[in-house]
Amino acid sequence: MAVQNRCDFLIVGAGVAGLRAALALAPHGDVLVVTKEAVRESNTHYAQGGIAVAMEGQEDVALHLEDTVAAGDGLVHRAAAELLVREGPLRVAELIEAGAHFDRQNGHLMRTREAAHSRPRILHANGDATGAEISRSLAAMARSQTSICFAEWTTVTSLIENGGTVLGATLLDSHHRQRVVSARSVLIASGGAGQVYMDTTNPAVATGDGIALASRAGAELADMEFYQFHPTALFLPGVPRFLLSEALRGEGALLCNDRGERFMERYHNALELAPRDVVARAVARESQGEVPGESRPVYLDMRHVSGVDLHERFPGISAFLAQHGLDLHRDLIPIRPAAHYLMGGIRTDLDGRTSVAGLYAAGEAACTGLHGANRLASNSLLEGLVFGARAAQSMLADDLPSESLEVAAPALDAVSDAAVEPLITRLQHSMGHFAGVLRDETGLKEGLGMQQEIETLLQEMGAHHGPSRRRLEAMSLSVVARAILRSALARAESRGAHFRTDFPRRDDALFQQHSIDRGDGPISFESR
Ligand code: SIN
Repeated sequence: MAVQNRCDFLIVGAGVAGLRAALALAPHGDVLVVTKEAVRESNTHYAQGGIAVAMEGQEDVALHLEDTVAAGDGLVHRAAAELLVREGPLRVAELIEAGAHFDRQNGHLMRTREAAHSRPRILHANGDATGAEISRSLAAMARSQTSICFAEWTTVTSLIENGGTVLGATLLDSHHRQRVVSARSVLIASGGAGQVYMDTTNPAVATGDGIALASRAGAELADMEFYQFHPTALFLPGVPRFLLSEALRGEGALLCNDRGERFMERYHNALELAPRDVVARAVARESQGEVPGESRPVYLDMRHVSGVDLHERFPGISAFLAQHGLDLHRDLIPIRPAAHYLMGGIRTDLDGRTSVAGLYAAGEAACTGLHGANRLASNSLLEGLVFGARAAQSMLADDLPSESLEVAAPALDAVSDAAVEPLITRLQHSMGHFAGVLRDETGLKEGLGMQQEIETLLQEMGAHHGPSRRRLEAMSLSVVARAILRSALARAESRGAHFRTDFPRRDDALFQQHSIDRGDGPISFESR
């Protein structure tokens, strides 16, 4: 029998959305924030370039909306984007007021430009460590609230649900102890699932657990075929796919192929500052060799940039490159696209409500439709602030009662993860191969077959062992992979981050709608 606890609000994930929600809920009850590692280990912490926010008045707000809508390739849910750009300035001002430090020059906030933004509106902190500063300041505020508790190094193993309402969750700590926690409502803010691909800018914790938990509890997923690949991840053998911020291109970086050609001229008139999906596809195409399987180098080039000390402007990136003998001022930097951000996720309304009572979602784990088929650069930290706060408001407004739980967590037997790792690796390779930047029906079907095989093996393991974090992560990745593959197969067109080589055109007549995954039934397409 597991230890039982209760709280008012259970939050899964300690990135920007989870922490912002926790702060809004704190005056109204006990909040428990559960996170798989230390609080700082989230996608938020690794966000480099900045936070896009229109702080220059109404004209800038309107332009930010138009840029967001244009980048989303016909699929942005306009009402969600409007909330983002209208509420964003207030949320950022609150953050600054509470002690977040963004870079300033002569006392004024510095703003940079990134791809597909019509004007410079990206605030940054410590050069290229914006996410870390936002995470630090929100965590400091949360830790000062006595009603917020953190369960670090703790994995949520399942959501407890009765009669279609989520009532709490089962947790597993790093000593393999289980406990059951009841809550009036549960918020999933556990971020994305970049680890479903071998090449990703995301940290190891980004395994889509919250999305899988919600799906298993019956929640609808939306737009799962839209995985954003960042065009410029460092590409060195044996080195993690470290993010090379889009802000580098905002400060003048060019892209060139192994023949020294500035190839973006052939793909988009905005060149290196074209929407992210366009640049990612261009880099992928330029890196294809003459024969299948062969690859050619593609580079980011800042050697011509003068008048800016790139080491000072990008200290984190410069330090990482220096560890590998590279220097932005001196060297061509080898790059490749890598999985970066999931536009899809748990389907929510504009206030974080999912299709299951008692269950809410915000941030990258959620899908409001805000990003459409392709997220505008640096809109994600803002999304976490705005929609984290909105989800908290609806959790309070819905005022669900607390139910006592009668759940016996199964006794644990020996845990063995030895066989899990090769299955995760197989899944990651297969997703990169069949559901990467370019996809087609044959490959997606093959990927689905492989995913089903892997899921069966994981289920068999689960029948013989108690829960382990790694096996749960493998199951989460498998659930997310299945949703991506199924949705990508159903969307027989190309739009934003989803490019079907067998259907290379956008088809508004059939597909200007959001894909909805309800689990076992077929994928459907619905308007917002
Ligand atoms: C970057 O710094 O390029 C990442 C920004 C983002 O993903 O929005």
